[in-house]
Amino acid sequence: MIVVSGPASADLGKKICECLNCPSIDVKIKVFPDGEYALRFDGDVADKEVVVVQTTGPPQDTNVIQLLLMLDAAKDLGAKKVTAVVPYLAFARQDKRFLNCEAVSANTLVKLIEACGVEKFITVNIHSENILKKFQIPTLNLSAITLLAEHFKNSGMNGAFSLSPDKGAVGLAEEANSILGGGCGWLHKERDRYTGEIKVEEKSLKVKGKDVVVFDDIISTGGTIARAIKMLKNQGARRVYAACAHPLLIGEAKIKILENGAEEIVGTDSLATSVRTVSLAPLIANALIR
Ligand code: R5P
Repeated sequence: MIVVSGPASADLGKKICECLNCPSIDVKIKVFPDGEYALRFDGDVADKEVVVVQTTGPPQDTNVIQLLLMLDAAKDLGAKKVTAVVPYLAFARQDKRFLNCEAVSANTLVKLIEACGVEKFITVNIHSENILKKFQIPTLNLSAITLLAEHFKNSGMNGAFSLSPDKGAVGLAEEANSILGGGCGWLHKERDRYTGEIKVEEKSLKVKGKDVVVFDDIISTGGTIARAIKMLKNQGARRVYAACAHPLLIGEAKIKILENGAEEIVGTDSLATSVRTVSLAPLIANALIR
């Protein structure tokens, strides 16, 4: 097995190689004056089992195109088997037509990835499992929540309450609770499909004096998790932490979350942001040799 560490996941790719004790191939990019670029593997992939690691957070268009170029090139250069490891799958929140005449972007991504001839697709806490059903090839959706919860447990947060900021993510709080053991719950959130505005319903959570960790798949603008944290603090929660698999942290997200009372934001290296405290490398490495 050989790991191609894509430009958007160079560090994570190398960490996966360390876990697997296998070689890593870097990717060289030559940019042309018009902004186009040529991508080249810094090593031979012919007849090898190739794992391409490339996350697709911002800039999504560039990272998606580079992912597709790498997958297609690996096949074209004679790789025996190609596995795509895409920790964060861009456009996964657009997995259906919410408004008339919208593009179902997640479906388009699935078609493009499959068209490159890959044999397997691995991702982490995909926003909607429905997307995986669109693939014809085997897929694996790993969860970073156990790793995140273990991080909190090892940092003295055993017994903390686990909360998901919307009902759709209740499975995340339940998974975390199996490690932290302090009980779990969820909030009811609604997003206006036209304005993007979020409303989180007030709910009594019985968290007075308790430590709480709010778990979500994605933190984007931080609006969802900041509202949950504010509610928890208003209800007398002691220490409150924000945790997620994919810390997009757009704009003022980090400040917003901390100003609303979070002690810390803990994310993974699914995306190369400043809160990538927990590495996905062991989780992905184990999945690759399963
Ligand atoms: C949406 O349903 C996701 O699970 C996240 O809750 C959402 O993407 C977070 O977005 P934001 O940080 O902008 O509120």
